[in-house]
Amino acid sequence: DIERDEQIYSSYEKLASQLPIFNDWSPFSLRHYQSFWMPAMFIPACMAIQSHFNPRPSDILLVTSPKSGTTWLKALSFATLHRHSFSFSDHPLLSNTPHQCVPFLESLFSHRTIPDLNVLPSPTIFAAHLPFPLLPQSALSCRIVYLCRDPKDTFVSLWHFFERSRISLSTEDKSEGLDLNKAFQLFSQGMAPGGPFWDRVLGYWKESLRRPEKVLFLRYEEMMEDPVSHLRKLAEFIGCPFSTEEEKNGVVEDIVKLCSFDNLRELKVNKDNKASLEDKRPPPSSFFRKGKVGDWVNYLSMEMAESLDAITKEKLHGSGLSF
Ligand code: A3P
Repeated sequence: DIERDEQIYSSYEKLASQLPIFNDWSPFSLRHYQSFWMPAMFIPACMAIQSHFNPRPSDILLVTSPKSGTTWLKALSFATLHRHSFSFSDHPLLSNTPHQCVPFLESLFSHRTIPDLNVLPSPTIFAAHLPFPLLPQSALSCRIVYLCRDPKDTFVSLWHFFERSRISLSTEDKSEGLDLNKAFQLFSQGMAPGGPFWDRVLGYWKESLRRPEKVLFLRYEEMMEDPVSHLRKLAEFIGCPFSTEEEKNGVVEDIVKLCSFDNLRELKVNKDNKASLEDKRPPPSSFFRKGKVGDWVNYLSMEMAESLDAITKEKLHGSGLSF
């Protein structure tokens, strides 16, 4: 019903336009929505998801904090779930970006039409950057995989991504960037895209303790350290464990290799430097920077690191989670 959807989206846009706005993270404005700083362009979509996303119990929702390894998790989950449909030599991940293989809910709900997701094959993998309190109750019927990353590396990755996005999406000559120190202060105060960082992580952490069969909590650093055993865990959780035969044939290792940073980054489709100005989409290459643990040492002073660590310790105190 096109007319109904138009009305729904117009009312969401009106509501979104009244929320507090923050413009320092160029090229994307943020708005304060239900205690989180969300990209303004996706707020009507968030509202639509909250009211109209009804996944099937078989569906899988990948949730991440921005710059925590979303691209990697998408690739691993897609390759694992669909391993019986494709060969490694002619795999969709060789000619499509992981973001094309696993869509963001925020994009699916961005087109001023409520999408009918039930027509998609079951199970379907979706991704989202939504904080836990913003997820609709209905999302809890499917399985959720949450991935987070050390806040110092998350921040450094985020800052670079915004710089890349600003440069590639800017239509003006003099669009000014956000200085690293200023960005750091804002991140530390929770005023960063998707922030506050800690509230977001804690939401999923607590839910994973409450309902471990529904929420799998993963960490980038641990996955980098031992991708094979984490992939086994992921496969079990999403309902398609590797068989003894597959283990023997090295399928787990093959998927890890296919989805590795070095492999994906070198593919033509992921090397693409062209942004899409129309829908403000940064270039595929901006999702592959260094793919290292601890790169923050090259950008943050010791005082900055200590300050962020102290905030993290205080915010996560008593939760059983630490970085
Ligand atoms: P760096 O900027 O530290 O290099 P997201 O996918 O959530 O946007 O996160 C992007 C971060 O994940 C970037 O971190 C990027 O390089 C890294 N990344 C992308 N693909 C990866 C992969 N296959 N394996 C490990 N890290 C990956």
